[in-house]
Amino acid sequence: MCTSIFSIAAVLVLLAQAGYAQVGISNSIATLKASSFVGTSTANSYPPAGTTVNSVLFPPESVVGFPGPTPTGAEPAAAQTAPAYPYNNGPSNQFPLVAPQPWGSSSSFGQPFDITKYWGNLSPWYSVSSADYGLPDASPLIPEGCNIVQMYLLYRHGARYPTTGAAPSIFAQKLLNVTQAGGFSVTGELEFLSQWTYKLGAELLTPFGRSQNFNLGVAYRQLYGELLNNFTAAGTLPVFRTESQDRMVKTALNFAAGFFGVPEYQNQVNIDILVENPGVNNSGAPYEVCTNSNVASRGSIGSTAATAFANTAFNATIARLQSQATGVNFTSTDIIAMLQLCSYETQALGYSAFCGLFSEEDFLNYEYYFDLSFYYNNGPGSPISAAQGKGYLQEWVARLTQSYPTAQSALNLTYDNNTTYFPLNQSIYADATHEVVVLDTLTAFNLTALFNGPPLSPTSNQHRNSFVASKLVPFATHFTTQILECPAYSPTRQLRFIVNDAVVPISDSHPGCPVDPNGLCSFDNVVSVLQKRIAEIDFNYDCFGNYTAKAGVDYNGRAPKS
Ligand SMILES: *[C@@H]1O[C@H](CO)[C@@H](O)[C@H](O)[C@H]1NC(C)=O
Ligand SMILES: *[C@@H]1O[C@H](CO)[C@@H](O)[C@H](O)[C@H]1NC(C)=O
Ligand SMILES: *[C@@H]1O[C@H](CO)[C@@H](O)[C@H](O)[C@H]1NC(C)=O
Ligand SMILES: *[C@@H]1O[C@H](CO)[C@@H](O)[C@H](O)[C@H]1NC(C)=O
Ligand SMILES: *[C@@H]1O[C@H](CO)[C@@H](O)[C@H](O)[C@H]1NC(C)=O
Ligand SMILES: *[C@@H]1O[C@H](CO)[C@@H](O)[C@H](O)[C@H]1NC(C)=O
Ligand SMILES: *[C@@H]1O[C@H](CO)[C@@H](O)[C@H](O)[C@H]1NC(C)=O
Ligand SMILES: *[C@@H]1O[C@H](CO)[C@@H](O)[C@H](O)[C@H]1NC(C)=O
Ligand SMILES: *[C@@H]1O[C@H](CO)[C@@H](O)[C@H](O)[C@H]1NC(C)=O
Ligand SMILES: *[C@@H]1O[C@H](CO)[C@@H](O)[C@H](O)[C@H]1NC(C)=O
Ligand SMILES: *[C@@H]1O[C@H](CO)[C@@H](O)[C@H](O)[C@H]1NC(C)=O
Repeated sequence: MCTSIFSIAAVLVLLAQAGYAQVGISNSIATLKASSFVGTSTANSYPPAGTTVNSVLFPPESVVGFPGPTPTGAEPAAAQTAPAYPYNNGPSNQFPLVAPQPWGSSSSFGQPFDITKYWGNLSPWYSVSSADYGLPDASPLIPEGCNIVQMYLLYRHGARYPTTGAAPSIFAQKLLNVTQAGGFSVTGELEFLSQWTYKLGAELLTPFGRSQNFNLGVAYRQLYGELLNNFTAAGTLPVFRTESQDRMVKTALNFAAGFFGVPEYQNQVNIDILVENPGVNNSGAPYEVCTNSNVASRGSIGSTAATAFANTAFNATIARLQSQATGVNFTSTDIIAMLQLCSYETQALGYSAFCGLFSEEDFLNYEYYFDLSFYYNNGPGSPISAAQGKGYLQEWVARLTQSYPTAQSALNLTYDNNTTYFPLNQSIYADATHEVVVLDTLTAFNLTALFNGPPLSPTSNQHRNSFVASKLVPFATHFTTQILECPAYSPTRQLRFIVNDAVVPISDSHPGCPVDPNGLCSFDNVVSVLQKRIAEIDFNYDCFGNYTAKAGVDYNGRAPKS
């Protein structure tokens, strides 16, 4: 392969711009004598001999039940109907989606604007830079002088259809009602609406969504596969966990398929499917028992703040689109629905005509709408988020300390008190969940660097807080803990937290953790800080208490005392 020095320099500049630490490049020229083992073969052999999954103890979806609603949508037909072919020469996190440039944008304004990074929890996940949270030199690569001994992964399902009764289907119903009551007319940019049908189902993973979880499994095998040798040595298969909702089961299966291969995954990992249903304890679906999560003045203050913001942020857009339609009146709710249709149709059908209706400013406002919703529903601005994230936090500490948890959260002791379903000695843990739970968890872990700055302004984006929803709660978002053995450090057992490839600093939030350019802190210290955090989160009060919360406050995820 012939690579010019200019293209190497260009790549380094790109990497530096993307916020990645440069690999050390030395000018010194050393002569190294080859080691005596050069050329010998090395190999590992997973799965352990004689192991097999246990489908009685770990029954499949068809036996567990509680899949939730599963309405299908229309088959995608992008080869026939998309305005452009999805060539595989763009960002790999988008293939095979087509994402157009925003309305009114011009290539003369420099970098193309990537609309998919402004869709909040509907964005496909993308690598986030450690520099965004204060660690400009950190990389998710294991720091020099350290070895990985254990990896914990909490990850979200990939792209799905809208949830039942979400804005896009209501918008479709509104147009249907108008159509049946005499019709409406459109012109210009809205012409496509004269032929539009609603093709989305509900709740289920889309083909692209499946690929996100499959690819995450491939990536994690590539990054951490060596840790399977611990299972081989022990003669045991790992237990991975998920919830009973259909998309959650499929998420875990696609992850496992990517990680272990098809069809090997069917016999190389036990997948524990925990029931997700109202009233049932489940750390992966804590809102099913935390009843304050659905109370407007408590768990959903973010939704209210986001709606109020949307009511004033899109006036110019409403006016522009309204001027191209008669017989139907657009509201800010419709604008949000159409922006969501851009996100959902793109990830279900391969492209969406709705995307081209909106300007760069509209997409920035759309992201901020999600920022408000998530910061105040599931981030530090929520009174219930720490309580909801406490279940996974307790499970995480239980695994680190090898001692079973007590029930002071939504975790389910029937499983978490049992070595079969909740082993405490794995080198790899992989739990699938929902984005709200991932954010609840980050709040419960007190990772305040992710929310650095004053509480988000309900009226406009002041850009003074490090929190951006699409960076933390996108489709297939993932929160990783690396447990490391670092002879160069004292104590040698260290750990660190990584969200979507960004290393999170904890020196300001976890007392006793030093400032470290790689985000490392002593294992024992983090455990003791988080045990205090568990003790201070009052699950019963936050989830069942009688108090009133409001947007505009950083509660550190915990309910006010009145
Ligand atoms: C559509 O019409 C039905 C029947 O009148 C009504 O119940 C529903 O609320 C309407 N939906 C919308 C979004 O306008
Ligand atoms: C974990 O411990 C159990 C016994 O309690 C043992 O059967 C199993 O092999 C161990 N697993 C690993 C990965 O070491
Ligand atoms: C624990 O989970 C099981 C099945 O997932 C469920 O049947 C049981 O009701 C749960 N326990 C509680 C207390 O919710
Ligand atoms: C946008 O329109 C709403 C409702 O018509 C109005 O209350 C609000 O003040 C307007 N906002 C701006 C920024 O013009
Ligand atoms: C749209 O709003 C105008 C007044 O603002 C009203 O006269 C008209 O009936 C509305 N049209 C529909 C279809 O609701
Ligand atoms: C279920 O969660 C509640 C806390 O909401 C706890 O008191 C109870 O012990 C838990 N039950 C089980 C079986 O985990
Ligand atoms: C957990 O299981 C052990 C036995 O394995 C039992 O002694 C203990 O009481 C159980 N704890 C709870 C909270 O159910
Ligand atoms: C753990 O679960 C297994 C399988 O269901 C069961 O046989 C065993 O009794 C449970 N152990 C405890 C301590 O409950
Ligand atoms: C996995 O195996 C490695 C190498 O033997 C060891 O250093 C590490 O502690 C093991 N991890 C766990 C969780 O047992
Ligand atoms: C959480 O982080 C904040 C700083 O952001 C710190 O003041 C607080 O003590 C931390 N809480 C715990 C339990 O460590
Ligand atoms: C909750 O508190 C409010 C204000 O103090 C009070 O009006 C209300 O009756 C209380 N509700 C319950 C169920 O205790």
